[in-house]
This record gives sequence, structure tokens and C-alpha cells, in this order.
Amino acid sequence: MTFDISKARERFPALQQDQVFLDNAGGSQALGDVIDSITQYLSKTNVQLGASYHTGSQSNTKYAEGYQAAAKYINASRDEIVLGASTTQLFMNLASSLTFPSGSEIILSKMEHETNVKPWLFMAERLNLTVRWWSSSKEDGLKLTAANLKPLLTDKVKFVACTHVSNVLGTIHDVKSIAEAVHSVGALFCVDGVSFAPHRAVDVKEFGVDFYSFSWYKVYGPHIAVLYASNTAQQAMKPLSHYFNPTKTLEDKIGFAASNYECVQSIPTIVSYLSGAFPAITEHEGKLQTILLDFLNSRKDITILGSKSSDSKERVPTIAFTVEGMSSKQIVAEAEKVSNCGFRWGHFYSKRLCDEILGLQPEGVTRVSMVHYNTEEEIRGLVDVLKKVLPQV
Ligand SMILES: Cc1ncc(COP(=O)(O)O)c(C=O)c1O
Repeated sequence: MTFDISKARERFPALQQDQVFLDNAGGSQALGDVIDSITQYLSKTNVQLGASYHTGSQSNTKYAEGYQAAAKYINASRDEIVLGASTTQLFMNLASSLTFPSGSEIILSKMEHETNVKPWLFMAERLNLTVRWWSSSKEDGLKLTAANLKPLLTDKVKFVACTHVSNVLGTIHDVKSIAEAVHSVGALFCVDGVSFAPHRAVDVKEFGVDFYSFSWYKVYGPHIAVLYASNTAQQAMKPLSHYFNPTKTLEDKIGFAASNYECVQSIPTIVSYLSGAFPAITEHEGKLQTILLDFLNSRKDITILGSKSSDSKERVPTIAFTVEGMSSKQIVAEAEKVSNCGFRWGHFYSKRLCDEILGLQPEGVTRVSMVHYNTEEEIRGLVDVLKKVLPQV
């Protein structure tokens, strides 16, 4: 069955109210079926895992099905994933567990949400590793590539981390070719997939990455995240489990006493909703970003940060911009006075990118982040609002 975009909105209770949701990169709305499944779980099967009595075994099954569905969704095996509170938490757990010889190097990017930096700085301090910084300038297209990584790669490098899509710029990085470059020196590659996963299918084997994480609360689900670590990459991890517990799977190693039951068991519902949906989602989101980018590109006083192109191969509909003569904070405040559009301003935790690479004011960018349940009408409405509140030209 093909995915019907026009029916998508009906599946989200939050969309039945008078609010245009345009901060989806912050967090998406949850599917009605997810909400129902959590209510059902907590009403009927909320018992401690591992029991053999009737309700206990039902709960065990639901948890196991949640893990299986998450693993299958990203094309990993059950042993290669762990579900946890957030991507930040899972990266911190991973950073506490990885081991590399003292004096090795790691490469971190300046185009990141701090989630994909701080855990590795902590790891570098713990293991006495040297940090090398990777970035792409405005002149270089603000895009991380195998070509701009290669000058930093040496045999001393053991770990490289970057984002799949920047939560500010919206640009899609070719993680497959970057993975090949990283592996050419025998290092491990970790990708933050948080801003990619709401928009495209995730296939960790196809990407060729060693570690990959994203958060389901931005992918139409509840507040829980998934981390993948390939079986091979797990050999570089020291298990953090209690001494009497198993250490075989990723969950054993850094799962810390099981994941949130009601959230885990809701994952099959999300996966079923998204099954076969991404071609239609990509096409629809392409139309949404074209409407907004056409307007932003038409004005000389507006700077789009990241790709100006509405090509869906280049970017997702997370669009950040600045306007000459009006701060990002003012833009949001004025838009809220005259409309029900919900979008935001700031650095969105990509502070190194906003300060050091883009050289922005403390108020950062205005960010509009759309997903498939937004309509063309909503985005045309947003353009009308912007025409009203931005300096008249
Ligand atoms: C690109 C990116 N990475 C990581 C995160 C952090 O995710 P979490 O809240 O699950 O830790 C965010 C959240 O906004 C993000 O946009």
C-alpha cells in the first residue's frame, strides 16, 4: 500500500488544534496510535520484565517486539542496538565505554549539535586522546565531505564523529563516502542521525557507519532514542554492566537496567506507520521547502544558512536564515503576534557552528523546520506572515 500524505494529519491528535507546528526539528508530534499503545501498556501490562506469570510474559513479549522492530527498521541485528533516554544519553554511555590507546587521535566536527561533541571530549579526557577539529567554511559550502576530512586522517586517528544532517543547516552529508574515508585509516565512525531520521529511511549497513543514533521523539514517537553499534565496533567497548549480568549485546554493555518499557513497546507502531512512506514523504517535503526557499531566496536582505537549493538530495526541510536589520528573536516575536505559526530562534545547541563557523549574533538564526504532516497551505501562510513582519522592501 502506498503512503497517502493527505491522510497523514488525521493520525496525529495534536494536529487537530489551531497551531501550525514548525519546530519539528525540536520535536515532532506523536502518532495517535503511539499514544494509545502507551495507554494500553500502562493500563494492562506494566510489570517488571523477566517474570513468567501471564501479564509478565505479555510485557516481556511487547518489550522484545519493540527492540526487534527498532533493529529491523535501521537494518541492524537485535544485538547491535540499545534504546535509551535520549541520543545525548546514549552517546554519553558509549563515550564511557569505548577504549582507545592513550595518545590516539579523534576527529570532531564544528557543525554539530553539542550532543555529538561533549561525550567525545569527555572520552578524550578520560583516555588521554588528542582532539582534531573538522569543519567546512562558507566558501567550502558548509558541508562535511570525505574531501575536507581527508587532510586530517592519519594512522593515529581511531574515532571520527559527525552529523548526518545539521539541525541548523538542513544539509545532508554523504555519510557513506565519509565512512569509507574513515575506514581507510582503520578508525571508527559515529554519526548523529537525529535530524535525518524524521525525513528519510535509515539503513546503517548501507551507510557503512560503526555507530548511529537518533531520537524517536522527533520521528513521531515518544521520548526515547536508539543507538546502533556494529558487532565489530562493539569490540572497542568495555561493558559497563553489573558483574553478574551478560555482556554480549549492545544493550547488555550499555543498556543500564533496561529501557523505558512503555516507550520501547510503542516502536512497532511508529515503524508500521513509516513502512514504505519515505518516497512520498521526500516528495511532499520537497514541495514544502520549495515554497519557503523560493520566498527566502527572492529577498536580498535574507541570508539562508546552508544550502539554498530545494533539491531533496541536498537538504531536508529544516531551514535557517537571518534577516538584515531584524534579529531572529524579533522575527519570532512579531510572527507570534500575528499568527499561530510556531517556530523558533537561537543556536539550537549547535553553538560552535553558529559562533565559530557562521559568526552569528547571540540570537542566532530563525529556524523553520517542517515535516511531512505540514501542508503547502501552512507554508504559504507562513510566507504571508513573514512578508508582513519582515522589514518592508
Ligand atoms: C542534530 C541533533 N542531535 C542531537 C540532538 C539531541 O537529541 P536528544 O534530545 O535525544 O539528546 C538534537 C536535538 O535537538 C539534534 O537536533
